[in-house]
Amino acid sequence: MGTGWLVVVTAALLLSLLTPAAASVAYDHKAIIINGQRRILISGSIHYPRSTPEMWPDLIQKAKNGGLDVIQTYVFWNGHEPSPDQYFFEDRYDLVRFIKLVQQAGLYVNLRIGPYICAEWNFGGFPVWLKYIPGIRFRTDNEHFKAAMEKFTAKIVSMMKAENLFEWQGGPIILSQIENEFGPPEYDQGEPAKNYVAWAAGMAVGLDTGVPWIMCKQDDAPDPVINTCNGFYCDYFYPNQPYKPTMWTEVWTSWFTGFGVPVPHRPVEDLAFSVAKFIQKGGSFVNYYMYHGGTNFGRTAGGPFIATSYDYDAPIDEFGLLRQPKWGHLRDLHRAIKLCEMALVSSDPVVTYLGNSQESHVFRSNSGDCAAFLANYDVKSYARVTFNGMHYDLPPWSISILPDCKTIVFNSARVGAQTSLMQMNWLRGFSWQSYNDDTNFNDELSFTTTGLLEQINVTRDITDYLWYTTYVDINETEGFLKGGYYPVLSVMSAGHSLNVFINGQLSGTSYGGVQDPRLTYSGNAMLRAGSNTISILSASVGLPNVGEHFETWNAGILGPVVLSDLDEGWRDLTWQKWTYQVGLKGEALNLHALTQSSEWGDVDANKPLTWYKWE
Ligand code: GAL
Repeated sequence: MGTGWLVVVTAALLLSLLTPAAASVAYDHKAIIINGQRRILISGSIHYPRSTPEMWPDLIQKAKNGGLDVIQTYVFWNGHEPSPDQYFFEDRYDLVRFIKLVQQAGLYVNLRIGPYICAEWNFGGFPVWLKYIPGIRFRTDNEHFKAAMEKFTAKIVSMMKAENLFEWQGGPIILSQIENEFGPPEYDQGEPAKNYVAWAAGMAVGLDTGVPWIMCKQDDAPDPVINTCNGFYCDYFYPNQPYKPTMWTEVWTSWFTGFGVPVPHRPVEDLAFSVAKFIQKGGSFVNYYMYHGGTNFGRTAGGPFIATSYDYDAPIDEFGLLRQPKWGHLRDLHRAIKLCEMALVSSDPVVTYLGNSQESHVFRSNSGDCAAFLANYDVKSYARVTFNGMHYDLPPWSISILPDCKTIVFNSARVGAQTSLMQMNWLRGFSWQSYNDDTNFNDELSFTTTGLLEQINVTRDITDYLWYTTYVDINETEGFLKGGYYPVLSVMSAGHSLNVFINGQLSGTSYGGVQDPRLTYSGNAMLRAGSNTISILSASVGLPNVGEHFETWNAGILGPVVLSDLDEGWRDLTWQKWTYQVGLKGEALNLHALTQSSEWGDVDANKPLTWYKWE
């Protein structure tokens, strides 16, 4: 046998090992199976663009120390393809670097490609240019949308393959997700939506990733795609086929923050209870959404009115510090679950009623492992139960874990982890500077036309700001000039906020809310005889990331704009000439990046429309 032949055979053998046919990630009704082993997998969401690359190794290590096996992240399409075919995978968007860091830490990755991701992310992850492809409709059986979705999904998959990042290639990716929570909109939309789901699943599977695909909140996920649960509790959840494992892709560790609403908090006792309850009914995959929430940098927050902080009251806080006792109590929970792993993956639970609101769930393996979960669902009272001839006192609303069916090593309501209070100190030695923006700013981007224009169509979302300016002539004989009153200006806007300036003076402000971004401004207009300038600064505060065909929702002043209490009665300004200016002067100057500049000066609190800088 010549060496040449041997080389050919070896190469062929290697190739056959390195194709999805040799897939090492599979599943059955109990669990995800990696290299032949059923696994109980504890996962946590860390979204790479919501922290800095310098933070990534530490966040991942803290996740590992907290007992996680998997890091879950979405892929952020609008960050990666800001304009058609112009891709960006650097800095906070360096997806490959992030995944390789997870791998170096010895953890797995669950890659939620979407590419619709919701996630309180601007436009749900869709690039805004996508909306302007003629004839497109998002997330339905629409050829233009499907072509774009397939192109981006295929791009990500081939990038992962080229970097050897799937498990069968020696990489960390064990699961990927297509779409996101399409179940509820599918229910509303009917037939075209059903076709879209079938297409999306088929398209994803056709990309041959060699690892299972999941669809979250998608009860009819077509085989072999696994449907998974998202929620605060998921113990009611079953997959749509008996041969699929029971997986929870979003265990909400708390909730996101919106401007103008209270900061949410979820106690770790309840969080641990919900996870233990899911595991005791046979669940084998849990993912904390979020494990580290982080920050919506720049203009990435969805909306409208999603806050800049995406802290999420998560086990690792926005700044990358452990949130105690949340992080520690969950670590203790994970240790207890892992001690039960052999029994958990070997059998379905045997459930026994121990009292009115008390149960035991027992798992056994053929080799003699036994693990038990003792639950007390009573929200108020302790319960004394007898289990295997022993007495146990169970705190209200709690689950106890007994990895040997005898000894309680963890109770969800008893927090043994360190409780610390973080003390934040004021940084001293810094000072504020300010810059007063121009309320009558026009540059080469400004233009004049008849009537009111939809805001995103004009800005293409390169800025939150659009100036709408018009002029009003007032006759010297107008009654209000002598009568001691002012006409009323009313402005109807599709959202999200307005600042009204009359002759350069701030006249009033109005904004919509998280539930309804629309607004009506109404205020006295201090007009004078002669020509008056009405300039209205309309701001969008994050594009919607969820809702029925949110790509069709408008922003900005669509009218009517009306002046009333004039001698003539009222005057409709809607259809007169309006001048449009995209963005603020400070943005055109790139002010935020100018550290040493004469533009910045001492704070003048009396001026409206002021930029502030602290250094
Ligand atoms: C889920 C969604 C996530 C995120 C979450 C709320 O329904 O899948 O992307 O939006 O809600 O934080």
